[in-house]
This record gives sequence, C-alpha cells and structure tokens, in this order.
Amino acid sequence: MSETGMKVFAPASVANVACGYDILGFALEKPGDEIMVRFSDKPGVRITKITGAKGKIPYEVEKNTAGFAAQKVLEHLGSPRGFELEIHKKMPFGSGLGSSAASAVGGVMAINEMLGNPLTKRELLPFAVLGEQIADGAYHADNVGPSLLGGMTFIRDNATLDIHKVHVPRGLIAVVIYPHVQVLTRDSRNILSDSVTLKQTVQQTGNLGGLLLGMNNSDLDLIKRSLNDVIIEPQRAQLIPHFYDVKEAALKEDALGCSISGAGPSIFALCANTFIAENVGNAMQKVLVDNKIENDLFISPINHEGAIRL
Ligand code: HSE
Repeated sequence: MSETGMKVFAPASVANVACGYDILGFALEKPGDEIMVRFSDKPGVRITKITGAKGKIPYEVEKNTAGFAAQKVLEHLGSPRGFELEIHKKMPFGSGLGSSAASAVGGVMAINEMLGNPLTKRELLPFAVLGEQIADGAYHADNVGPSLLGGMTFIRDNATLDIHKVHVPRGLIAVVIYPHVQVLTRDSRNILSDSVTLKQTVQQTGNLGGLLLGMNNSDLDLIKRSLNDVIIEPQRAQLIPHFYDVKEAALKEDALGCSISGAGPSIFALCANTFIAENVGNAMQKVLVDNKIENDLFISPINHEGAIRL
C-alpha cells in the first residue's frame, strides 16, 4: 500500500473458438494491453493518458472500458481512494482479439493490485464484464474470462458467470492474423440470425462437446474434428475478405482448425506445435499479401496466467 504506482498487463484473447459462440475463449501470451496506475489525491478514477488507440478510445470514465470497470470495483469496495490510469494499447483495436476486454481486465486488476488485492480474480470478473459491455452492449465473458484468468475458459452461463477453466494440451499454439479491415463488434453481432435449425444445433453441440473432451483428454484428432462452426462463421465470413482462402491455406498446412477470432476480422488457427504454426501463419499471411490486404500476424502459445502485475 506504500507504492505510488504500478503497471499491469492483460492479454489478448480469442473468443468463440469456432463452436463456442459467447461461451468459449482462450488467452494469448502476446499481444496485450498495459495499464499504468497511480494513486491520486482526487477520489475516483481518472484516465490521464491513452496510447496506441489512434484517438479512438474516449477518456470519459463512463465510456471507457478500463475506466468504467475500474470505477465499478472501487464502488463495490467503497474505497475513498483516487486513481489515475494510463492505458497503453499494445494490440490492434477493433480486431477481434478482445482488445476492449483486455482494457477492462487491466482496469480491474490495476485497482485491485493497488489496494493490496482485496478481491480474487474470480471476484473481479463481473466488474470487467461490465466494462467490456460498454463496447458491444452484450454481457458475455468469453474474452474477459481468459484475459483475466488465463488459459481456455468455458462459460456454462453468462448471466451468472458460471465459468470454468479447460485443460489445454501441452504444446498447443495459436496463430492469429489480423487483416486491416474494419469490422465493428456491434455490427458483427447484429447481422446474426436469431434462428438456428435443429440440425445446426445438433452439429454445433456435438462439436462443442468434442472440442471440450478433446482438450481435456489432449486428443488432438478429436479437437481437429470438432473445431467447426456451422452457425456463426457462415454468417460472418462475408465481413472478412478472402476468409475461406485463408482458412483453406491454414488447413492445408495441417492446422487443427481455423475460424474467425471473436467477432472478427481476425482469423485464428490452432496448431499442434510451433513448426506447424509457423507454416500455417506464413500460408495465411500469403493469401492476404497476395490480395494486397495489410495484416498483422501473431503466433503465440496459450497464456495460462492471464492478467498480471508486471
Ligand atoms: N463472442 C463475441 C462475438 C466475441 O462473437 O460477438 C466478441 O465480443
């Protein structure tokens, strides 16, 4: 409590993981957001600096995912203390990599760490989800969960945040490519049909069960058969130029599966090892480069620790 300030890191995450729309996600080791926090004489939360967001993130606490989430923790604790936050976005914004979730997680971690950790990470979860809700209007923890807790998380029910960590097989590597096209999460959610057929439901629940079982048993073949999304991906693919070419390139190089990361436009693939991941990443990137689409490529193990104080 004698410290005047500190820095926390909250990782990017891949939500949905193909067949787990709004209920499954995993964290990456990189990229992620950094939040610098300092005590201030003025009670409450203020945002004093934002870098890496090209002016697209508001300073008003009520409209800022990190600020709002941080304020909610402070209110919950009834703390009279004041805090200044600097948000350093170290990952693409609006990319489908859980950028707003990482900021919200960074916000709650920063306040909690400064106050000597009165709350556990699980207790911080609802406040971070409230912060992220500002970004797309929906209450779901499939980015916030993994960014805060680390690993892969499965949410049986978002309303009650009935969240569980899923075993991750050793060596599993994620490849994520971010094509520089704009896809707003709100829009990407709004285009989704409310109707799902019984056949789709049976296929999707089969895949989700298979994926969770495959992860739990480190059964890569079962994971490979299960990493399919028959409901959301077919509706969102149109938002991402050359999505199916990128996916085909990834699968040809032996990715276990490939789909849209969160609401897009990023595309992720899961791979059995680093050698395959590098080939998969290069193949995915070649498709975008050949079509003159600027992009960023990230290859990362699954992050098991989640948000941390640096
Ligand atoms: N599950 C969410 C979606 C993640 O796909 O819309 C992005 O917030």
